[in-house]
Amino acid sequence: MRHLISAGELSRDDALVILDTAEELARVSDRSIKKLPTLRGRTVVNLFYEDSTRTRISFEAAAKRLSADVINFSAKGSSVSKGESLKDTALTLEAMGADAVVIRHGASGAPHRLATWVHGSVVNAGDGTHEHPTQALLDAYSMRRRLGRLEGLKVAVVGDVLHSRVARSNVLLLHTLGAEVTLVAPPTLLPVSVETWPCQVSYDLDAVLPKSDVVMMLRVQLERMNASYFPSAREYSRRYGLDRDRFARLHDDAIVMHPGPMNRGMEISAEVADSPRSTIVEQVGNGVTVRMAVLYLLLGGSEPAIGGTA
Ligand code: CP
Repeated sequence: MRHLISAGELSRDDALVILDTAEELARVSDRSIKKLPTLRGRTVVNLFYEDSTRTRISFEAAAKRLSADVINFSAKGSSVSKGESLKDTALTLEAMGADAVVIRHGASGAPHRLATWVHGSVVNAGDGTHEHPTQALLDAYSMRRRLGRLEGLKVAVVGDVLHSRVARSNVLLLHTLGAEVTLVAPPTLLPVSVETWPCQVSYDLDAVLPKSDVVMMLRVQLERMNASYFPSAREYSRRYGLDRDRFARLHDDAIVMHPGPMNRGMEISAEVADSPRSTIVEQVGNGVTVRMAVLYLLLGGSEPAIGGTA
């Protein structure tokens, strides 16, 4: 594996190697070993053209825990404001010694283009409405840790699928790993292409909830929303929000997920988000471990992932 651009490009074996490597790294962290020397001398560039809290910080933490050097680039305050292109920015960063570029960009396909320009590895940290593969990997890892398996799990992904790169990556990865995904959304918040995705589609959350092992709520992306196809916030919440009453319809072992950031009170109530069956905070911690595994597998070469402390 040289790049990680799409969850759909991962074979079942590729995905399981990433999840199993993350498990191994988590075991080391559990032994209070916080830093490994594995990527000493390597440089990871975080190239972020869109805002991020979880993804940017967890990639930085992951690279540092593997002893890599990290350069954080944010488009705000850079020469992008003077018109510098993505290609020139990337080549500039590569000239400074980047072995891997982690990119978040508003344009779907930007990581794919970047991979044709640079020699190092490219990791997609979210491109437009296209994909967010490391989010899907950390979600699958979190499900497997909580529920012990992925094969045969019934996963409902609920809400603003139209603007969600998380939804597409999860559908593709979970299908590869043997889970059954149902997308639940109002018709206006589903992309036309959903017909070709390997999943079921429903408009009726109340019918899907009792059959689900995992309910993954998506953020309503108000910043990308056009008023003509968004119901009012109150109407959305009434039909598609996960509140206390709907939560009570889940079976006893079902878990609730959200990639964050959340609109508390819209797609999910505070009570549900903070309940013991919510994995939302766990997902953030697991994100560091899974991103360590991805960076190690892309850059670690023949070095053992776990072979000492820094
Ligand atoms: N889940 C996620 O991508 O969050 P950030 O936008 O904070 O990185």
